[in-house]
Amino acid sequence: EIGSLAERMGYKAYLVGGVVRDMLMNKEVWDLDVVVEGNAIELAGELARIHGVDLHPFPEFGTAHLKIDSIKLEFATTRRETYPHPGAYPLVEFASLREDLLRRDFTINAMAVSLMSEDFGTLIDYFGGLRDLKDKLIRVLHPLSFVEDPVRILRALRFAGRLGFRLSKSTEKLLIKAVELGLLKEAPQGRIFSEIRLALREENLPEIIKLYKKYRVLESLFEGFSWDDQLERRLKGLRSVIEWHRIEFPQERLDYGWLYLMLLLLRVDAAGYMNFLNAPSWVRQGYTFLKKDLDRLLGDLKKAQKPSEVYRLLKGKHLSVLLLLMSFPEVQDRVKLYLEKLRHVKVDPREFSGLSGPDLGKAMEEKKSQLMDSLFSLNS
Ligand code: CTP
Repeated sequence: EIGSLAERMGYKAYLVGGVVRDMLMNKEVWDLDVVVEGNAIELAGELARIHGVDLHPFPEFGTAHLKIDSIKLEFATTRRETYPHPGAYPLVEFASLREDLLRRDFTINAMAVSLMSEDFGTLIDYFGGLRDLKDKLIRVLHPLSFVEDPVRILRALRFAGRLGFRLSKSTEKLLIKAVELGLLKEAPQGRIFSEIRLALREENLPEIIKLYKKYRVLESLFEGFSWDDQLERRLKGLRSVIEWHRIEFPQERLDYGWLYLMLLLLRVDAAGYMNFLNAPSWVRQGYTFLKKDLDRLLGDLKKAQKPSEVYRLLKGKHLSVLLLLMSFPEVQDRVKLYLEKLRHVKVDPREFSGLSGPDLGKAMEEKKSQLMDSLFSLNS
C-alpha cells in the first residue's frame, strides 16, 4: 500500500534500518522506519488521511510519524549526513537510497526492503549486512564511523550484547582506537547518556556491561571509575539477586537496569551524572542514600542479633536499596529474610482494644517484633 501510494506520487519507498535486521532474525516488529526518495511528509500525510489517523510532521527534519493500529511508522526523506566535527549534529542534504544507507552505523542496520510493486519485498544489501548477520558480526560501514559519531561506540557494544554478536576484526580495532582517542568524552553528553539509558533497558545488560569492561568505555565516561575484582563479584551477585527477585516477586517488577548502574557508580562521585542520565527519583534517592550510609548499614546488619533488628534497619527502604544490599554476600541471608518474611508480618489492630494513635502504633510494632523473633532466627 505504501509502495503504490509512493508510485502514484512519483516517489520510491523502502523499509530500512533496525526493522529489516529484526525481520531477517524473525523477530516481531512494531516500529517501522520507511525512507522515501521524494517528499516523505507528503506521502505520510496521504497515508494518514486514508487511515483517518493523526500525522506528526517534523518539517525541519523532513520526517513524519504516524500510528496505524499498534504499528508505529516513521517516514523520512532519504538523506546524506555530513559531520562538521566529531559527534556534532550532522548537516543534512537530500540523497539517494544508497547514500542514505551509507550514513548508517553498522552493516546489519544498513539494509533496506523495497516496498515498490515491481520488486516488493526484495532485500537491498549494498554492504554485506546479510552475511554479517549470518556470521554474527557488528561491522561499521567505513573507517570514520566512530569518529563521526562516537555514540556508535556504545551502540556497537549494545547490539553485540543484545544479539550475542562479536565486533569484526577491523571494527574492533577502530573502536579501540576511538576509545583511546577519548572520543566518548568529547561527544555531546546528552546523546551519550541517552544511549546509556537504552542499554539499561536491554535484557542482556550484563553482557553489555562485560563488553563495556572489555573495551574500557566506563573509564572514559565516568571520572574516577575503575574496575576491580570486588566490583565484578558484586555485579555477579546482583545478577543472581535480580534473577531471584524476578521469579519470587513477579508482581514487584522494577527497572532492574538502574540497579546495575547504581552499583557501578557507587565508588564514583556520580550525583552530577544522574542529571545527565535523567535518572528517575528513586534512583537518585537510593544512590544518595547508599553513597552515604551503605557501610554503616552493612555493619549494623551484620551485627544484628535478632530478626526484629533486621526489620528495623530495613523497614521503609526502597526495593532498589534492598536488592543492592542483598547482592553483598555478607548480609544476603538477612535481607532475604526481610524480603521473604519479615516485611509481611502483620498484626491485627483489633487485638489492642483501648489503645489509639502513637500508643497503638508502638504496641503493634512491639507485638510484631515479638512475633518475628519467635517465628524466625538469624543464622550467624
Ligand atoms: N543510526 C545510526 N547511527 C546512530 C543511530 C542510528 O546510523 N548513532 C541508524 C541505524 O541504521 C539504525 C537507525 O538509524 O538502524 C535507527 O536508529 P534506532 O532506532 O536507534 O536503531 P534500531 O536499529 O531501530 O535499534 P533498536 O532495535 O534498539 O530500536
